[in-house]
Amino acid sequence: MNISSKLPSSGQTIFSVMSALATEHKAINLGQGFPDFDSDPVLRELITKHLNEGKNQYCPMPGLLALRQTLSEKIERCYGTRIDPATELCVTAGATQALFTAINAFVHKGDEVIILEPAYDCYKPEVLIAGGVPRPYSMVYPDYAIDWNKIADMVNDKTRMIIVNTPHNPSGTLLHQDDMLALEQIVKGKNIVVLSDEVYEHLIYDKQEHQSVMRFPTLFEQSIAVFSFGKTLHTTGWKMGYVVGPELLINEFKNIHQWNVFCVNSFLQFAIADYLKDPSTYEQLPAFFEEKRDRLTKLLADVPLKPLLSKGTYFQLYNYEEVSNEDDVSFAKYLTKEIGVAAIPMSPFYSDPISDKTVRLCFAKKNETMEAAAERLAKLAKT
Ligand SMILES: Cc1ncc(COP(=O)(O)O)c(C=O)c1O
Repeated sequence: MNISSKLPSSGQTIFSVMSALATEHKAINLGQGFPDFDSDPVLRELITKHLNEGKNQYCPMPGLLALRQTLSEKIERCYGTRIDPATELCVTAGATQALFTAINAFVHKGDEVIILEPAYDCYKPEVLIAGGVPRPYSMVYPDYAIDWNKIADMVNDKTRMIIVNTPHNPSGTLLHQDDMLALEQIVKGKNIVVLSDEVYEHLIYDKQEHQSVMRFPTLFEQSIAVFSFGKTLHTTGWKMGYVVGPELLINEFKNIHQWNVFCVNSFLQFAIADYLKDPSTYEQLPAFFEEKRDRLTKLLADVPLKPLLSKGTYFQLYNYEEVSNEDDVSFAKYLTKEIGVAAIPMSPFYSDPISDKTVRLCFAKKNETMEAAAERLAKLAKT
């Protein structure tokens, strides 16, 4: 049989490659972004309750109404925006399915999609599957700032979407109010959808405020915001998330969603609907993760790796210029195999080669995991 691949050169994600290498070499995995601690026991009790009460059948296509109502209240509390739970929200199988569905709903063959790089690895293949043309824009170490005039210059009649991500994986940087206003000016009056990946909305430090597209009414008219319960509830394996947008866009999103997955896990939706009614469940997250960020920074203070203090997400970049001249993929492999700590290199997040000497470490880890990793990293010496 002769099958022609839609993604002939995509290969395995860097996360799978580095995690497999970490297992093979018994390395402590500070590479792939997942917590090594459990979720709240209150949440687990709610899940057991709803599971045992038989909430195991299909729920409505856009998600359980009770969950959409809880989310609408949460959004109003966080961002001051009123979202109609009946028409402006849809529950998804994680952020990845949400991104896939949004891209396939709005990007037609030949449409251009501006992707700000370094970019989470699923954006580009999802655009290619939709027949779109990725147009990368490079943000660079150490400030990863965006020159919005250059983005405006990239926009043309074929531009159908701009994908943004704040707090930003992998750099740990944030978009600010002036970024969002510049973006609003660029897309205003044009047939461009802003796909705003906000999965780390609550992982934000030093008293900064998350700049959701929902805070900007004009921008929000053209936006789909994407969220993940995996990040908010320490449960990346559940693959549960949701999207929020104006009715016009959410209708078209649902048009694709119904043929893609129809509806997602029911008993988890009942449990999350109850759990997130208590705002303290998500309002304690910035302090919880800021303490972890500071702990990792302190533990590695005497190691010759230079941190770029994370402003959001559970990732922190480390520059290794003082230790090695190797490229970042080779250095991440060396760290995993020889030092016993897995890290993620930056170059797979870019379309074009980069010369940055930085790797990403994840601090969503138990204190003892970070302490053990620091003990191993102490073996690194300046060249
Ligand atoms: C920026 C970003 N977007 C989306 C996702 C995917 O989220 P989910 O696991 O809910 O599909 C991740 C996961 O790491 C991410 O970092």
